[in-house]
Amino acid sequence: MLKKIQEWRGKETSKSSLTKEELLKHPIPKHIAVIMDGNGRWAKKRALPRIAGHHEGMKTVRKITKAANGLGVKVLTMYAFSTENWKRPKLEVDFLMKLPEEFLGTFLPELIEENVQVRLMGNKSDLPEHTLRAVEGAMEKTKNNTGLILNFALNYGGRDEILRAVKNVAIDLQNNTITTEQLSEEVFSEYLFSNQLPDPDLLIRTSGEIRLSNFMLWQLAYAEFYFTDVLWPDFEELHLYEAINSFQQRGRRFGGI
Ligand code: FPP
Repeated sequence: MLKKIQEWRGKETSKSSLTKEELLKHPIPKHIAVIMDGNGRWAKKRALPRIAGHHEGMKTVRKITKAANGLGVKVLTMYAFSTENWKRPKLEVDFLMKLPEEFLGTFLPELIEENVQVRLMGNKSDLPEHTLRAVEGAMEKTKNNTGLILNFALNYGGRDEILRAVKNVAIDLQNNTITTEQLSEEVFSEYLFSNQLPDPDLLIRTSGEIRLSNFMLWQLAYAEFYFTDVLWPDFEELHLYEAINSFQQRGRRFGGI
């Protein structure tokens, strides 16, 4: 078991020499979901305020988006703010809610050049107007792009998402828009925020925490999990390559043998 956990946690301390060309010889995960954890600890180690860690984490989002797009990953879902993160101090919440504006204000031209499409997943109604405006503006400007989908999970919670889906299914059953016979896993998936996206093949969580924290509970049913001790602001292209390399070495059976 210990050996297995060490495998799941990745071999991030090794200075591997993985190259893009090497990775491209094997299937690349279509959808990678990331729990970007460890910004606060990164800042603390440098005696900086926590928000400095989030700001550095924002730069990592740009770096990893470019790297994933370069490998042909189709969807990159980033857990940027959970439904539980409102419990943080107001200053930190306010800062996190301003980050999408800063990120898109700075990097949108580059994302457009790279054919990236921006999307949003989560409960929009509680987001500040300025946050929503920035993300929806970027969604509009990138809606016809055909490269990587950069999907921000903002004010996202897996349970909240499932509960909403159940409520909407109940409404549609009452209206006779659908019947219980028609309700399959595929149809139910259409009621989730992630509708039209494939399920993640690979989940990466940084900073050494080994839990899901209410992230994509339905969609991660068959994903491969990769945990690394690297803190999100320190996560480099090579760490992404190591995660994908680990994914490529696993035998995915989807319940078969
Ligand atoms: C968890 O680390 C991280 C978050 C709650 C926020 C993640 C957000 C970013 C990386 C920036 C997102 C960028 C854009 C463009 C929206 P933590 O603060 O819990 O770290 P800790 O566990 O070390 O305290």
